[in-house]
Amino acid sequence: MSKKSVLVYGHLTDDQLAALSQDFEITQFSGTDLANDPAFCEALKEAHGLVGGGLSITPELLDAAPALEAIASISVGVDNYPIDELTRRDILLCNTPDVLTETTADTGFLLIMATARRAVELAEFIRRGDWQKSIGEAQFGIDVHGKTLGMVGLGRIGAAVARRGALGFGMKILYSNASPKPTLEAELGASRCELDELLADSDFVCITVPLTEDTEKLIGARELDLMKPTAIFVNIARGKVVDEPALIAALRDGEIRAAGLDVFEHEPLPTDSPLLHMSNVVALPHIGSATTETRDAMAQRAVDNITLALKGERPISLVNEDVWSNT
Ligand code: 8YV
Repeated sequence: MSKKSVLVYGHLTDDQLAALSQDFEITQFSGTDLANDPAFCEALKEAHGLVGGGLSITPELLDAAPALEAIASISVGVDNYPIDELTRRDILLCNTPDVLTETTADTGFLLIMATARRAVELAEFIRRGDWQKSIGEAQFGIDVHGKTLGMVGLGRIGAAVARRGALGFGMKILYSNASPKPTLEAELGASRCELDELLADSDFVCITVPLTEDTEKLIGARELDLMKPTAIFVNIARGKVVDEPALIAALRDGEIRAAGLDVFEHEPLPTDSPLLHMSNVVALPHIGSATTETRDAMAQRAVDNITLALKGERPISLVNEDVWSNT
C-alpha cells in the first residue's frame, strides 16, 4: 500500500522529519505565499495531511485538496482555519496547546517589565552614547510589583501570566473571562469582573483571549479611554483583538502610558507603522512561543498529532471534536 502524503510547511527538526518519513510520503515547502505557489497547489491534490503554521486555510484551498484528512497546526491559535468548514468536510484540525503556555507567559511578562522600566528606550539611549550623567526623573519607569494586573482572558496562557504576577510580583489580579475560575481565584487571589471595570482599575492590562468573531476589536477607542492614563497595555494574543488605529491614537495622545505588543493587525508589521516610531511602545515580531525548546516541542506535538490522525487514532490535541465523535 502506498504511503499517505503529508505536506510540511513549518519548521521540523531533522529527527522529526525522519520519523514522519517512516510512515508518510513527505514534501517540504517554504515561502511566504504558499497559496499561490504552483508546486504547493499541485501537491495539495494528493495531500492527506498538512503540517505547518501561518498559512490561512480557505475553503478554496480545501477544494484543491480533496484527499485531505487532517491538519496539524504548529500553533495553539486556530484563527487561520475555517473550523466549521473543516468539520463539515470531516477534516481533523489539531493544534499545540500546553507545550507553549509557559514560554508565551514569559513573553507577556517580558513586555510588562520592558514597558514599565522603559528597557528598550533606555537601551537605545545608552547605545547612542547619551548616558553622560545619572538619569533623572524624565527617564524613570514605574514599579511592576504590587500593582494591579488585569487579565483579559484567563485560559492556560492567561493563568500562567497571572501566576507570575501574583506569586512572583505580589500583584493584585483582576480578570475577565467567559467562565469563572474558582481554583485560580483561590490560588492567586484573583477577582473576576466585567471588562469595563478591569480596564478602569488595572495598572497593566494584558490580552490573552483567542481571536474569534466575538473578540475581534474587543478593545477599541471606548475601552482604551476607560484605562488609566498611567496604565500599560500588553497584547500577546492576536493583533485583531485590538482596534490598532485606536491604540495608536491612545498612545500618541497620552490616554495610556505605554504598550507592549507581540502581535499586530497585519503581520509582519508594515515598516511604516507609527508603532515603530513611538518611544512608549515595545514591539516584538510575534515571538510569544519562539524559543528553541518550545518550537521543537510544538513541532513534535504537530508530528504526533498528524501521525495519530492519519493512522486513524485520536490526535493528542484536537480542535474539532465533532469530526472525531462522528467517525
Ligand atoms: C505560533 C502562536 O507559533 O501558537 C500560536 O498561536 O501565535 C505562535 O506560537 C505562530 O502563530 C507561528 O506559527
